[in-house]
Parts: sequence; C-alpha cells; structure tokens
Amino acid sequence: MKNLRAVLFLICAVFVCNLKANIQEKLPFQAGLIIFRENIQKFCGGSLISPFFVLSAAHCTFGAKKIQVILGANNYKENEKSQVVVTTKLWNNHEQFNNTDFTNDISLIKLPYKILLNQQINTIKIGRNTKNTNIFYSGWPEGTKNNNGYLKVIKVKILTNNICGGIYKNIKDSNICTISNDNNSTGCYGFSGGPLIENNKQIGIVSYGSKNCDKSIPIVHVNLLKYFKWIKRNMEFN
Ligand SMILES: *[C@@H]1O[C@H](CO)[C@@H](O)[C@H](O)[C@H]1NC(C)=O
Ligand SMILES: *[C@@H]1O[C@H](CO)[C@@H](O)[C@H](O)[C@H]1NC(C)=O
Ligand SMILES: *[C@@H]1O[C@H](CO)[C@@H](O)[C@H](O)[C@H]1NC(C)=O
Repeated sequence: MKNLRAVLFLICAVFVCNLKANIQEKLPFQAGLIIFRENIQKFCGGSLISPFFVLSAAHCTFGAKKIQVILGANNYKENEKSQVVVTTKLWNNHEQFNNTDFTNDISLIKLPYKILLNQQINTIKIGRNTKNTNIFYSGWPEGTKNNNGYLKVIKVKILTNNICGGIYKNIKDSNICTISNDNNSTGCYGFSGGPLIENNKQIGIVSYGSKNCDKSIPIVHVNLLKYFKWIKRNMEFN
C-alpha cells in the first residue's frame, strides 16, 4: 500500500502535477483579488509588479472596504502550498477614473509587507509593445460555466483602436483592444484587472468586454504606455 502510494505520487509528480504547476509557474506574477464591498464580494485579477505592489483595474478596487490578494495560486479555491494570501486596506485608484466609461481604469494595491519571491511568486516588468508577439492575458473566469477553478491563458492579437472604436464608443489612446486568437475561449468576468502580456512584459490591464463574453467581440485594456509615470509616482509616495 505504501509502495503504491509512492508510485502514484511519483506519477503525479512527473505528469499531472507538473502539467498543472507549469501554467502557474509561467505566470508567477498573476494575482487573484477578492474585493470586499459593503454587501458583496467581487473577484478580480491583478499582477505583482514589485514585492510591495499589485497592479489592477480601478473598477475592481473602487468602493472596496478591504482586498484579499492571493499570490502563487493555480486554483485559488484550493489550499495550495505555493499560495500566499494577504489582506490590505491600502490602494490608490487613478484620480481621474471614470466609473461610467472606464477611462483611467487603473489602480495600485499596496501589500502589507514585502513579499518573498520564489518560483511560484515573482514580479512582471512593465513595458511597451515592441514585437507584437506572444500576446495573451490571464486570469480566472469567475462566474462563468467553464470555470474549473484553474488559471487560464487567453491568446490574443491586437486590434487597431480604429476598428475597436467601431464597436465600443469610448476607445482612447489610453486603451489597447485585443481579440481572441484562441478558437474556443475569451476573457470574461473575473479577468478584470489582470495583465495583458506581450513578449514577457506587461503592456496592459484587462478593463472590459462584451456582456455575454462573446469571443468574436474585442476586449478593451488599459494601455500601460500612458501610465508609466502614474505608476512610478504612486509606487514612490504610497
Ligand atoms: C465620464 O464618462 C461619461 C461617459 O463618457 C461622460 O459623460 C462624463 O462626462 C465623464 N465624467 C467625467 C468627470 O469626465
Ligand atoms: C482557429 O481556427 C482557424 C480556422 O479553423 C485556424 O486557421 C486557426 O489556426 C485556429 N487557431 C488556433 C489558435 O487554434
Ligand atoms: C477547441 O475545442 C475543441 C473541442 O473541445 C478541441 O478539439 C480543440 O483542440 C480546441 N481548440 C483550441 C485552440 O483549444
């Protein structure tokens, strides 16, 4: 019996567990956020950009009483050894965040202590889109039917703001639009606040999309290029 368990454990370690762990270990910067409002809880994504700060969307953190930040998770609903869970009451929403049209949908959450980095928890660099390659966003599709609790990656391509502006009214320079490049899926509720990655750096934040999560409709992101200064300032003076 003991031997069988050892064998099973080994198989698990080599195959199943590795498969699961790999997704998370490729995205060690991914954060899950449980946002506590007056009477409701909301789930959002975020990204660890320093051992003290998580970047997210202002429409997530807006009106919160406190925020629980989950780092190092593959399935955030399970009790995984890699996870670090902290609660904070410190964050800054962009001063000009517009809760109607989601202009300046960016916020910075300060963690209560310096997070120790390891293989499962690490920071992502912020940058500009240089090569237009390997673009994806990631998160947990909370509130949807195909949510099995595991972290997901949605491969995308970038649409011009011109095309995107034909679909959404308020597309500005401070947005990047993407369309799913994965025949089966797109982002949905729960991905909000999560990172848009290009060539191993974060270039955007998931902001909004279609109401019923239709994969043929673009997702709108915050264009980080327009917020480098805001991020720097808020990390210095928070
Ligand atoms: C917020 O957005 C709405 C819709 O675009 C606009 O009518 C309103 O003036 C904006 N508010 C501010 C304070 O800019
Ligand atoms: C999606 O389907 C199209 C047409 O069947 C195919 O050309 C394309 O390679 C597929 N994309 C992915 C990411 O599988
Ligand atoms: C889409 O789903 C079909 C059927 O479930 C599967 O065979 C196919 O590999 C999936 N395509 C992608 C790009 O994940």
